[in-house]
Amino acid sequence: MELREVGFTYNSFPDLNSLSVEDQDLIKKAIDACSHAYAPYSNFKVGAAILTEENQIVIGSNQENSAFPIGQCAERVALYTLAHVYGRQVIDTIAIAVENEHQHTPASPCGSCRQLLAEYRSYQTKPIRLLLSLVKGGPVYEIHDVNDLLPLAFDGKFLGE
Ligand code: THU
Repeated sequence: MELREVGFTYNSFPDLNSLSVEDQDLIKKAIDACSHAYAPYSNFKVGAAILTEENQIVIGSNQENSAFPIGQCAERVALYTLAHVYGRQVIDTIAIAVENEHQHTPASPCGSCRQLLAEYRSYQTKPIRLLLSLVKGGPVYEIHDVNDLLPLAFDGKFLGE
């Protein structure tokens, strides 16, 4: 038997002002994107802003529906928009902001979004950095690479890709 360990580290910044101006700008885009969210059922608004290596910025927000399962997360709306409108550009950073009165720490992507992020990550060699924040301010988490969030991920290699 061999014991294997998987772990990761991330940075927690006390507030927005502790980040570089470029990171602050991207987070502000994610915060703005929250205003496009349609979340009458959860009252949990999420905005995402993707920055590509080509300096393209694409935003997304969560879109809910009375038939709950067909709702979409902000990250997925942004990633699919990027792929559909601009093609498969190399992703540098994704800022995510959540707006909810009960939430005092940044939220991290759901399992389904982690799976999608892992797929986009597999197209590129460069890490995809995440900046997780709250619309109302407070701490910002920097995840160095989306792969950290989904160890031993299922991917196309299992299907012979
Ligand atoms: N949501 C996102 O948009 N992104 C996440 O990573 C987590 C959850 C949305 C889905 C749903 O509209 C609401 O937040 C509550 O789950």
